[in-house]
Amino acid sequence: MRRWSVAFLGLLALPGALAVYTCNSTSACPQSAPCCSEYGFCGTDSYCLGGCEPLYSYTETSCLPEPVCESNAWQFTDLSRVQTNGTLYNGNVTAYDWLVTKGSLELDPDGNGVRLILTEDNGGTLLSSTRYVHYGKIEFVLETTKWSGVVTAAITMSDVKDEIDWEFVGNETTSAQTNYYFLGQANYSATAGETYQVTSGGDTSQNFHTYTLDWQEDYLTWSIDGNSVRTLTKADTMASDGQYKYPSTPSRVQISIWPAGIDSSAQGTIEWAGGMIDWTDADYIAHGYFYNTLQSVTITCADTDDSSITGYQYTGNDSSNVPVVGFTNRSTIISGALPASVASVGLAGLFSVAAVALPWVTWSLF
Ligand SMILES: *[C@@H]1O[C@H](CO)[C@@H](O)[C@H](O)[C@H]1NC(C)=O
Ligand SMILES: *[C@@H]1O[C@H](CO)[C@@H](O)[C@H](O)[C@H]1NC(C)=O
Ligand SMILES: *[C@@H]1O[C@H](CO)[C@@H](O)[C@H](O)[C@H]1NC(C)=O
Ligand SMILES: *[C@@H]1O[C@H](CO)[C@@H](O)[C@H](O)[C@H]1NC(C)=O
Ligand SMILES: *[C@@H]1O[C@H](CO)[C@@H](O)[C@H](O)[C@H]1NC(C)=O
Ligand SMILES: *[C@@H]1O[C@H](CO)[C@@H](O)[C@H](O)[C@H]1NC(C)=O
Ligand SMILES: *[C@@H]1O[C@H](CO)[C@@H](O)[C@H](O)[C@H]1NC(C)=O
Repeated sequence: MRRWSVAFLGLLALPGALAVYTCNSTSACPQSAPCCSEYGFCGTDSYCLGGCEPLYSYTETSCLPEPVCESNAWQFTDLSRVQTNGTLYNGNVTAYDWLVTKGSLELDPDGNGVRLILTEDNGGTLLSSTRYVHYGKIEFVLETTKWSGVVTAAITMSDVKDEIDWEFVGNETTSAQTNYYFLGQANYSATAGETYQVTSGGDTSQNFHTYTLDWQEDYLTWSIDGNSVRTLTKADTMASDGQYKYPSTPSRVQISIWPAGIDSSAQGTIEWAGGMIDWTDADYIAHGYFYNTLQSVTITCADTDDSSITGYQYTGNDSSNVPVVGFTNRSTIISGALPASVASVGLAGLFSVAAVALPWVTWSLF
């Protein structure tokens, strides 16, 4: 997706450590603050949870494991599996499947699910899964926004910025945009982004539709109400540098509402989103917010179940600089993380995963 303003996201307060150091592709975190947060700050504890950038952290195993996929279906009339204050989360996936990492939710007054809220002050709402999907089918049932400058997104996002999108922009309520990114790179020359009409079942903001991402190792299909509209094969993404520009790393599932039509956005982003947001819009005045409505999410993991696996963990790059991921049984919980002496051994806790045949992966077993 076109990015949320750093002004909103970069300065999120995270407990447990001071964000003194920044991190990026040329500057990794120091040992004293080993984890590079999603927004480019080094720290401990929460910085090591979801979004932690393994390649910019002190070591590839500084981030806590990415909790492994678990197939399930959630109806968002029930928020018992949602931690609505994401800063309180400690990595315990037994307690929560979803986190509000920004903004807030309100139950839909008609009992159809939950509203993600955008106000002039909150900068939008982001609901993120606590677990990761490493290939699988994700079905979102939702009603979109319908206001110029406001964007609804239902995506997968990996910690190294592989991304697969459904996006709904501005006041366009009869179409859905698809997109994908490999390590944060969009390939506009190959029109990675494509728009599809929602031809039946009515306006996307007034009617629930099912938007599916069927993300498998060799292909990715976007479907609307069960009808596939776009298929990308991994083979399609082979670039001139010999690298498959295909999203291939474990990803969280995220649903959001965000303000693209604001002063701090790039001009192209504002135009893409249908112009500036009108904060005097009658709907905004009436509700006190803009919103979309999420009814349900269904995830069908491609992984085989193995209860001894807790998560995915990066092990570095392969020879063509594609990040490599393995399974681990390390705890995903901040306080339950392995003692430093064990953690420093790093990959010793990784499982043999020979049974999972991913052609581009070279598994390093120690
Ligand atoms: C990475 O961070 C360092 C230290 O803050 C900074 O000097 C450098 O410009 C950054 N590089 C990029 C590519 O952002
Ligand atoms: C979330 O919890 C933190 C820590 O207890 C607290 O400071 C903050 O106000 C809470 N935020 C909300 C929105 O309740
Ligand atoms: C994790 O959550 C479960 C369910 O809420 C709870 O029983 C357990 O004590 C929690 N564990 C930790 C270490 O927080
Ligand atoms: C969307 O908003 C623009 C600008 O206000 C307007 O010209 C256009 O007709 C609107 N489109 C729809 C489908 O309402
Ligand atoms: C963009 O995609 C085209 C076609 O798939 C490919 O030939 C090209 O190398 C890609 N460019 C980049 C920068 O990935
Ligand atoms: C790993 O690959 C990524 C993406 O291609 C690259 O940005 C990074 O510099 C590589 N890291 C190392 C240690 O080679
Ligand atoms: C994790 O895996 C290692 C290596 O297979 C094993 O020795 C260890 O007992 C496992 N730990 C847990 C908590 O299952």
